[in-house]
Amino acid sequence: MSWEGYLFVYLPGELEAVPAGRLFLEETGLDSTASRFGYGRRYLARSNAVPVDPLSLPLSCLPGDEAIYEPVHPPIFGAVRDAAPDFWGRRVIEARLQVPPDSVPESIYLLHAGSHRFGALDFRPTLDSPEAAGLLPPIAQLDYLMEAVEHVEQGLPIPAQLEPIFTGGTMGGARPKALVIHRGEQYLAKFPARNDGFDVPVVEWACLELARRAGLDVPRTDLVRLADGRAVMLIERFDRKAKGESFLRRHAVSALTLLAKDESESLGARYEEISERIGRFGVDGRVQTDRSELYGRIAFNILVSNDDDHLRNHAFLWDDAGKGWRLSPLYDVVPRPQVAAERYLHLSVGPRGRLATLDNLLTAHGAFGLLKREAAAIIERIASVTREWRVVFDELGVPESLCEKVASAFRRLRDIGMEAVEKAL
Ligand SMILES: Nc1ncnc2c1ncn2[C@@H]1O[C@H](COP(=O)(O)OP(=O)(O)O)[C@@H](O)[C@H]1O
Ligand SMILES: [Mg+2]
Repeated sequence: MSWEGYLFVYLPGELEAVPAGRLFLEETGLDSTASRFGYGRRYLARSNAVPVDPLSLPLSCLPGDEAIYEPVHPPIFGAVRDAAPDFWGRRVIEARLQVPPDSVPESIYLLHAGSHRFGALDFRPTLDSPEAAGLLPPIAQLDYLMEAVEHVEQGLPIPAQLEPIFTGGTMGGARPKALVIHRGEQYLAKFPARNDGFDVPVVEWACLELARRAGLDVPRTDLVRLADGRAVMLIERFDRKAKGESFLRRHAVSALTLLAKDESESLGARYEEISERIGRFGVDGRVQTDRSELYGRIAFNILVSNDDDHLRNHAFLWDDAGKGWRLSPLYDVVPRPQVAAERYLHLSVGPRGRLATLDNLLTAHGAFGLLKREAAAIIERIASVTREWRVVFDELGVPESLCEKVASAFRRLRDIGMEAVEKAL
């Protein structure tokens, strides 16, 4: 099967999507084999045109009647892949279509991810096909959504009253989640999962709060309770902003896309490569801000043993004013309790590869545009907050027993090369 249709973009400041060009997806069975895209001439002439893909489809492309483009990393344009869910949302789409897991080609996920999908792209068969309908549920419906999520997790059919999950359930990531309206904005609700070893929503919420106190850029969050007392974490979407009754969208891509890699190339990819891409695709005058922020996030990941820092857990947002890609706010940071003394992040930190130590990170300072002394100051700022994690968690009302369960994730500074940082200050 193959799909041919129009790629639409919700442009900055506009509530209606416009066609950006024609997209061809070639598929053989379940496999994507090739893609092609040609920009519309009118689209490229718009002053607020957004590049569909930073690497493969920059705005310097010629219009489709002069040139058709293929992905720099075939078979799929990274930004198109990012517009379909990678795991959780696929389960929701399959539940809706009543098909087994991973039994349909990519184009089906792409077409069924709906208009609330990540970023600002949309896919429509014809120029006058309407936007996929669907209002997101308010958080008052969280109990129903939780019930729907449990049906999806168990592969059970979704009864009619639980169907709101189909509208807002199609984001990516592995954990159960749904989109909801909260305080007039769109939030991602992250639910407890069946096999959680501890109360993940509470710990993720508290950890993001810790990151905020360490000066990192964290979206607004909230913790709410289901009728049965279980916690759900809410995080405000950074790619949506309410406008009247509707929402503006910001185009967003994963670091996987900015690095032109696919899933199988994420492990061991280097943070330095992300920094290099920030230099190439970032916004003039903001490159160092984003590099320093990224550097602080690496320090944080080391300090709390967040080793799920893969390339889909870093994102970039199109900045219309600066005509470049900015590092998105932080998300999906969860401490992982473990016994190992020697620990590794998912991405490579510095000259000693994925080894999760502060001296490994310090040595890499130059790749992030930082003098050694500046790098040390960032690490020290983050460490001075994470070392007080118990005080913060206690203040946030995280139960002592839960703190005990995750305590081994928080590293002792002397075990991970803090002396080198102090010497460099
Ligand atoms: N605050 C947010 N705003 C917009 N998109 C987000 C936000 N948080 C996460 N996402 C998107 O949703 C995906 C899944 O969320 P994530 O928190 O990573 O869930 P999981 O724990 O299941 O991996 C992310 O990969 C990202 O694309
Ligand atoms: Mg994730």
